[in-house]
Formats: sequence, C-alpha cells, structure tokens
Amino acid sequence: SPIPEVETLLDKMTLEEKIGQLNLLTPGGGVATGAVVSKNVEAKIKAGQVGGLFGISGPDKVRMAQEMAVNHTRLKIPLLIGADVIHGYQTTYPIPLGLSCSWDMDLMEEAARMAAKEATADGIMWNFSPMVDIARDPRWGRIAEGAGEDPFLGSAIARAMVKGYQGLDLMAPNTMLACVKHLALYGASEAGRDYHSVDMSKIKMFNQYLPPYKAAVDAGVASVMSSFNDIDGIPASGNKWLLTELLRERWGFNGFAVSDYTSINEMVAHGLGDLQAVSSLAIKAGLDMDMVGEGFLTTLKKSVKEGKVTEAEITQACRRVLEAKYKAGLFDNPFRYLDPNRPKQDILTAENRTLARKLATRSFVLLKNHDQILPLNKKAKIALIGPLADSRNNMLGTWAPTGNPDLAITILEGFKDVAPGADIQYAKGANISNDEDFAKKVNVFGPRIQIDPKPANVLLAEAIETAKKADVVVVVVGEATEMSGEAASRTDISIPENQKKLIKALVDTGHPVAVVLMSGRPLTIPEEFELPIALLQVWHPGVEAGNAVADVVFGDYNPSGKLTATWPRNVGQIPVYHSVKNTGRPAPDEKFQKFTSNYLDAPNTPLFPFGYGLSYTTFKYSNLKLDKREIHQNESLKIQVEVKNTGNFDGEEVVQLYLRDVVRSITPPKRELKGFKKVFIKKGERKTVHLTLNHDDLKFYNGNLEFLSEPGAFEVFVGTDSNAALSRTFTLK
Ligand code: IFM
Repeated sequence: SPIPEVETLLDKMTLEEKIGQLNLLTPGGGVATGAVVSKNVEAKIKAGQVGGLFGISGPDKVRMAQEMAVNHTRLKIPLLIGADVIHGYQTTYPIPLGLSCSWDMDLMEEAARMAAKEATADGIMWNFSPMVDIARDPRWGRIAEGAGEDPFLGSAIARAMVKGYQGLDLMAPNTMLACVKHLALYGASEAGRDYHSVDMSKIKMFNQYLPPYKAAVDAGVASVMSSFNDIDGIPASGNKWLLTELLRERWGFNGFAVSDYTSINEMVAHGLGDLQAVSSLAIKAGLDMDMVGEGFLTTLKKSVKEGKVTEAEITQACRRVLEAKYKAGLFDNPFRYLDPNRPKQDILTAENRTLARKLATRSFVLLKNHDQILPLNKKAKIALIGPLADSRNNMLGTWAPTGNPDLAITILEGFKDVAPGADIQYAKGANISNDEDFAKKVNVFGPRIQIDPKPANVLLAEAIETAKKADVVVVVVGEATEMSGEAASRTDISIPENQKKLIKALVDTGHPVAVVLMSGRPLTIPEEFELPIALLQVWHPGVEAGNAVADVVFGDYNPSGKLTATWPRNVGQIPVYHSVKNTGRPAPDEKFQKFTSNYLDAPNTPLFPFGYGLSYTTFKYSNLKLDKREIHQNESLKIQVEVKNTGNFDGEEVVQLYLRDVVRSITPPKRELKGFKKVFIKKGERKTVHLTLNHDDLKFYNGNLEFLSEPGAFEVFVGTDSNAALSRTFTLK
C-alpha cells in the first residue's frame, strides 16, 4: 500500500528531480570494479541529480554528503548510502563460501547482525549483500562470495542473512537494508568466465538457480541487484520477464531494483543499442536505480520527450527508491546513522573479533587426517612453512573493501598465541606463484603475491632444513586473496606448481605434515590428496585468521565444517555437483562400462562430495526411522536417526537429509538436499536426531513451471554427506 509521505513528495517532484533519485554514484576512493568512476559528485548532489552513494563511510563524511543533499536541494531528500559489506564490515569474517560450510543458520544471522551494527555505526544503511548466486563451476572466481551449489541450503542462508542485516525493525539505527544479488543466474556464467553469457532452461532455473533469490524476497529483502549476464538473450538489467514478471508479479517483491556497476551501459556492448535505447529498456523492464553508469540521468528525459518512456514509469521507479529511504527512517531523520561515538563503540570491538574467530573456526573443513596428525600437541616442535603462513595481506579474502588487512592475525602469530609452549620455526618455502605476469594481475588491490628476492631453490632448501629439525610440519599454502573473487576466474584451479613441489618435498622428509589450505574456491588436488597428510581447508578466514587456524590445529575447537560445493578431481569434470540426474544410461560409479554415461580417463565421482567434512572424532549413524510409510498431500513426515560419537573427542556433526523423487513428470535428480541439523555430541554419547520433511520439500517446478508434488514413491537418505547410505522409502498418496 502507498506510503502517504512518499506520495505527497512525489506530487511535488519535477521529472528531473525524479530522475535524480534513480542515480547511484561512487565518488571514488573506494574499490572501483568497473572502468568508470563518478565525476563531479558534489555538484550533482547539490543539483538534485543523485539518489544514493556508495564508497564513502564514516559519520563525518556521510554527514557532509547528507548535508549537501538536505541543505542544498529543493525537496531536501536524503541520500541512500550503500556499501559492499560482504563478509563483515571492519571485523572481517570468513568469505561467504567458507562461512556457508558451518551449516549454522543462527551463527550466520549473528554474523550479518554484527556486520550491520558495524556498518551502520559508520553511516551506511544499505548493504549490497547477500550474494546468493548458485555456483557449480569453481573456475568462476565469485564462487567465493556465495553459499555454493545447493538451492535448499542457499535459500536457508539467504533467509538468515536478510534477517541478520534487516532485523525486525529497519528504522533501528543498527539494522540496514539488504540487497540480494545478482538477479539472476550470474553463477552460471559459461565456462566459469566472469561476466560471460548464461543460457539455461526455465526448468533448471526454477528448480536449481532461482530458489535463493526467491527465499530472500520471501524474507522481505528491501532491494535486489540485477546481474551482468544475459538470460534468454536479454541482459538482466533490461530483462522485463525477470525484473517485472518474475520478481514483482510472480514473487510479489515490493522493494527496489538497482543495476550492477554500469550494467545498464554494458547492454550497449551486449549489442542491444545505444545508451538511450538501453536505458529506456532498463527502466521499462522494471529497474529502478542506475549504478554509476548515469544512463538514466543523461537519457531518460529525452526518452520521455520522444515518447519512448512514460513519466509514469519514472515515477514508479522513483517511488520505490523513496519508499526505501522512508523504510530506512531517513525522512524521519537523515542523520540517524551518524552518531560520532558509534564507530568507537561498535566497530572492531573485542566482542566482534571473538565472534569473527568463532565464525572462522566453524568454516574450516577437515578434508583428510592421515594417522590423526591433527590436532597437534601444544608443546610440539613445529616447522611452520609456506607462503601463506606469515602473510597478513592474504587473510581477509576477496571483497573485503571495508576491512583492513593490516589488522589481520597471521597464522604464525596465531600459533604463537594459542600454543606459547610450542617451539615454532618459520620458513617461507615458496612463493604463492613464481609467475610475474600472473602476480601482476592478482596484485590489483595490493601486493598479495610477493615474489621473494631469494631464488626458489633456496626458499625450498630452507624449508626442508627447518622441517627436518621439527617433530611435525604445518604448511600453509593455496590461493592469494585475489586469486578468487570478481574478475578472477581460473582455468587451472590446482595449487600453483611451486607450492605443490613444496608440499611434496616436505612430505618426503618423512615427518608428519599437516597442510592448511587457503582458497576462495574448491581446488583440484588429487595428487595432494593421495599423500599421507592431514588436510585442513580454511578458505580465507578473515581478520582473526591465525587465531582461528590455531584453535583448530591445536584442538581447542574440533572442526565441523562441511563442503557446500563439490570438489572436482579435475577441471574436465566441471560442472560436478551432488544433485545430478541419473540419465538414461547411468554408469556404475567407480567402474568404467562402455556405452554408459562416464569418462574414459576419470570416474564420475568427485574428489570430495557436497556435504563432506571430517572431524577429529567419528560418528556412526543407525536406526533411521520414518513416522509413516505413506503420507497425503500437505502432510509432513518426521524422520529420526541415531548418531553416536564413536571417537575420542566431543564434536559437532551436520546430519544431512537427501530425498529422491523416484518417478515424476520431469527427470528427477538422483538425490537433493532437503534437510539438515547441526548437533553437538560428547564422545561416547548417542543422540537421536529429529528431522522433518515438509510437504513443500516434496515439490518441484514441473514443465509448466507449476510448483507441485506428484504422488508416488520417494526415497530418503540420511547421513554425514551427500553420499549418505542409510535410506528408507515412503509413498505420497
Ligand atoms: O555489489 C557489487 C557487485 O557485486 C559487483 N559490482 C559492483 C557492485 C558494487 O560495488
């Protein structure tokens, strides 16, 4: 229903003033992720030509900008101030792909709440997060920013984050407007190359890729950002089916839609016409705000004059932007987020850093633990080796423009803090990469890859010497921060060759080796996996990196993370994900059989399946029971299973539930995630874990895109990962 204050304001506005509200600029000084940086921002604000800004922060600066808008423009309309607060504001926590591996929705909501509290303390009330793009291609660098491959889990995370950012009251000074992005399908860029085309059937879209965006909309997200890619041949920013028919008419979204950085202008390069044509396409499609490109500002008036766009279309977009400002409480008080005392009180507090440390420990995934190398004794003689072992610059991970890498705890520092009784000797051992051209491309935001003046063979020899004197070796290797993220796609996602050589040489010393692996994406590590090592995946852990890694390596926290994106054996298997279809010629998984669906040179199975992750303890599943063998439409099904902690440590386990719809009108996946619960179980104890399948969990989008369930047999699988073996069947009547 219309907001009277907004309607009154709209009645007073000229066409130019309305167009001004649709213009989102960045004054520079922040991270520019496109070729253009806004010019003459101050003059434009004063001329009423700006509706919002991003890339500025701090109560003083935001106050200056807000005063320009409020004191110098005829209608005194405040600015929306946005930012990319992707994984923490200044208290940077793990990259989203890492955090998703916690499978802990309460914790993720708490993380988003903390980020909102810090960002609003610095004058920001609109967040370009959550990024919920389903990604099944780890070559795509932005897989780091999302929740991985699965729509069920991705939807739960989308809801948790929207709730965390927006809270119950958007007018509260510590909550912010969320912006779900990038609508839509950005994670399906062809060949994993960023900004590439997307082409996908509607059935796949609706069942696999759209659910997390819809979940955010259902959770009340205030805004959406359109993606760079095309869908059915029309770029998202000008796609009326997407922005109006699907988003507003089918899903009932009533917030505002913003473009991505110059994505309206980029429709010129996509081949859809000149700036005036693409800008009118965007506004007519239902896009409300133009990020940085100024196509709306410079062409819409002309388009109205020429009858190509109606004033009503512009009024509607302006209404949505003004409603967002109203919801954020800016009309009530344009300076509500500008308390000069808040940054000191709310940002980077000890409490926030403690939470960041906890979040990081929950994101780590133990991939292998040969001979129980981990956890380490706190009194051990440790050789701490590797280019990422003492590299402050690479701890925060991609898209952390509001974080400060200088504040990050290195792994070396964390080890010394957590295990002061250990004898720790450090050696670099190798560069992250020896390739200078590659390093130049990665180092756009700072020296992430620093090529040592010492020759590679000297670095390696020093590491081997250090290792030989120790009881145990910990080697910290992987990707530098900007080796993943935006515009950081890779065709080879293995560990760089010189680091592989380092791992191998350390293993050859015969000493036990624990590999701590950092990356923003699944890597291909089949050779390393064969080595007799412990392997702990820590992503990019954030500002508390070193402390969190030490907490887990020394056993203060028993790892419980589970992969949310499948790890392929090699790039040729991509896309590889758990909810694949059976095909008409299913292959026996590990055995080659001619004329079945498989490869000559690799199995179909990945190196690590979705949901996989070890613990220092072990869990045994038994007694899977369903409360009914038959259910009717709209009934739910109760499921229980016993899980026993059979090892020597207390620990947490993510109990996972998968479902197979045995026969249906469109080919079903072999199994799909439909439930999970994270439980803590003391060593030796057994717990009965209860899960529920709701009727909606049985539904899918059929060939007519109707969301429904079809009667027949279903198979339930429960276990520790997507290969869960315990199963039961039931029938939907
Ligand atoms: O929010 C981002 C988006 O994810 C990528 N392009 C730039 C936007 C604003 O910084």
